[in-house]
This record gives sequence, structure tokens and C-alpha cells, in this order.
Amino acid sequence: MNEFLEIIKNRRSIRSYQDKQISDSDLEKIIEAGIYAPTSMNQQKWHFTVIQNKTLLDRMVHSIRENIMNLKIPFLSERASEPGYHTFYNAPTVIVISGEDSANSIQIDIGLAAENIALAACSLDISSCVITSSGFLFAASEGEQWKQELGIPSGYSHICSLALGYKKGENPDAPPRNKEVVNYIK
Ligand SMILES: Cc1cc2nc3c(=O)[nH]c(=O)nc-3n(C[C@H](O)[C@H](O)[C@H](O)COP(=O)(O)O)c2cc1C
Repeated sequence: MNEFLEIIKNRRSIRSYQDKQISDSDLEKIIEAGIYAPTSMNQQKWHFTVIQNKTLLDRMVHSIRENIMNLKIPFLSERASEPGYHTFYNAPTVIVISGEDSANSIQIDIGLAAENIALAACSLDISSCVITSSGFLFAASEGEQWKQELGIPSGYSHICSLALGYKKGENPDAPPRNKEVVNYIK
């Protein structure tokens, strides 16, 4: 298998990180990979907030947990009240990706950017996890304040975020893939 296909198969969602920060030069390569993703009509209506401030990340998690608990959805509350719960798994770098509200197929654009970021990171031995539960940060009345603090442009909304860093321990096994999802017409 060529190296790129191996990276695709070996990328795992990692949920435990070392404190060690990734270098600025690796971060730059990872962000560049993100913005080289294709976009509908080349619109590039996305925004990336890179957060490497632990105090801010912990404040975000505190607010996310509070919003989740207030929703009173049992499986979410159960997860958020687990000891050590941290939306970003204590990763030292988090990238919040937002997209323009009226842009065409913006969720697809941002999904492609997120995958480019995850694969570029993996190629540099940096682990990642795509996260959408970060969206609960914006679920209460303080959502607009958070948007301002994170520098999310007006008219843009959170789509997903990525935790990035060096994993603790080994990669988990890949969750099994359902291969019965393809039909070939020749
Ligand atoms: C759109 C999307 C949202 C996700 N949201 C979360 C999340 O909020 N928290 C989390 O721990 N993992 C999240 N994941 C990671 C998935 O759980 C993970 O990709 C899946 O279990 C397959 O595992 P793998 O990435 O190791 O192959 C998300 C993945 C995607 C694509």
C-alpha cells in the first residue's frame, strides 16, 4: 500500500493527549492542508480559530458541559458528567472551524478541510479528533460572546472542531467498517 493510503487507514480519532505542544511549523503545514481542500464554487467561506491557550480551552469545556447538562438529554448528560470529561480530551491545540451561514454546501467544504487537517496531522505523527460536540458552546445566550472571543466572523457559525496533539499511548483499533455499502455497476 502506498504511504498516503496507509495514512488514511492508520488515522484514528484520539481521545488522550500529552501536554507537549505541536510546533508552529507543523501547525502551519496542517492549516495549509486544510485550506487546500476543495470548496463549492471555490467559495472558501470558512474560518479557522486556532486555540493553544489551556485556560481558554478549559473555560470553553466548562461552558460546553454546562450547556449539555441544561439540555437534559440523558446520554449526553451522562457523558458530560463522567469524571475527567473534557470535550477536547485535553489536547494542547484545538482548531474551531466555522462557515458562512448562507454559503452553498458549507458543511461539505468544512468536512473536507477537517479531513485534510486530520490526514496532514497524521502524516506528521500528530494525532487528532474531529469534534462536533464543541457546538454546544454556542447553544446558550452566551453563544454570541463566545463567537466574539473566538474571532468567528459575523454571519459565520461553528461547524466542527479538531483536537490536535501527541497521543498518550497507542492508537486504538479502528472501529470496524461496514463494507456492505457499495454496489458496482459496470
Ligand atoms: C462529523 C463528526 C463528528 C464527530 N464528533 C465527535 C465528537 O463530538 N466527539 C468525539 O469524541 N468524536 C467525534 N467524532 C469522531 C468519531 O467518533 C470517529 O471518527 C468514529 O468513531 C470513527 O473512528 P476513527 O476516526 O478512529 O476511524 C466525530 C467524527 C465526525 C466525522
